[in-house]
Amino acid sequence: MKVIVIAARKGGSGKTTLAGHLSVQAERVGAGPVALIDIDPQGSLAAWWNSRAAPTPVFAQATVSGLADDIQRLRDSGIAVLVIDTPPALTQTIAEVVGLADLVVIPTRPSPHDLRSIGATAELVEHLGKPLVFVLNGATPRARINGEALSVLSQHGVLAPVVVHQRIDFAASMIDGRTVMELPDPSRSCAEIEKLWAYLDARLEGTVPRRTLPALPRRGGEEGVYALTGAARRNLA
Ligand SMILES: Nc1ncnc2c1ncn2[C@@H]1O[C@H](COP(=O)(O)OP(=O)(O)O)[C@@H](O)[C@H]1O
Ligand SMILES: [Mg+2]
Repeated sequence: MKVIVIAARKGGSGKTTLAGHLSVQAERVGAGPVALIDIDPQGSLAAWWNSRAAPTPVFAQATVSGLADDIQRLRDSGIAVLVIDTPPALTQTIAEVVGLADLVVIPTRPSPHDLRSIGATAELVEHLGKPLVFVLNGATPRARINGEALSVLSQHGVLAPVVVHQRIDFAASMIDGRTVMELPDPSRSCAEIEKLWAYLDARLEGTVPRRTLPALPRRGGEEGVYALTGAARRNLA
């Protein structure tokens, strides 16, 4: 069983959105069975799951104090992928959860406040010797700050080669327990999550795909490529 922990000190960066979307996408492509754990006292992921009609992914009740045992129980019951959503904090609790991860996903918005806070999260993960991947989330298409954000992130670690853009369907789909992949029409949002899961899955399996640059919509076109600094290129795995 692979354990993916979604962590970021900043609230609103997209942890719960990505936890829901990645867990459903993992099920869609047959990587499951997938289980979810929500250790955020706010319980946003649990609320989303409770409003969900589909039976998968399964939701596992867990406590931080018993998390290692809970994870073992899920492993023994045949769960293949476990996604753990965490509160916006940098506490001993987060450290304990990160310590149980196979991969830590750190979503961040392309805002100065988000970017300033990722260094501390990344340091904690690295201190615990866990692999991490940054995901730029909530990016406004074609905004110059996206490229700058990717350059900043690349100073701290590995970037996912896909940017998740700001689109209303990410929020709207979760109102009634769904994801963008479960809306009637295929969308760009859906394609981003598909690519993101494929990349994370390859990271988890140790078969990272060919180095690619994060793509973004270009004026008049579907996708362009961010211009990155040398450091950014080196950190693209
Ligand atoms: N890519 C996106 N496009 C549009 N809305 C988003 C996106 N990512 C997150 N949101 C919205 O932003 C808010 C915060 O996201 P959330 O996933 O709850 O962040 P966190 O769990 O890190 O606090 C939510 O209302 C969510 O629907
Ligand atoms: Mg959350």
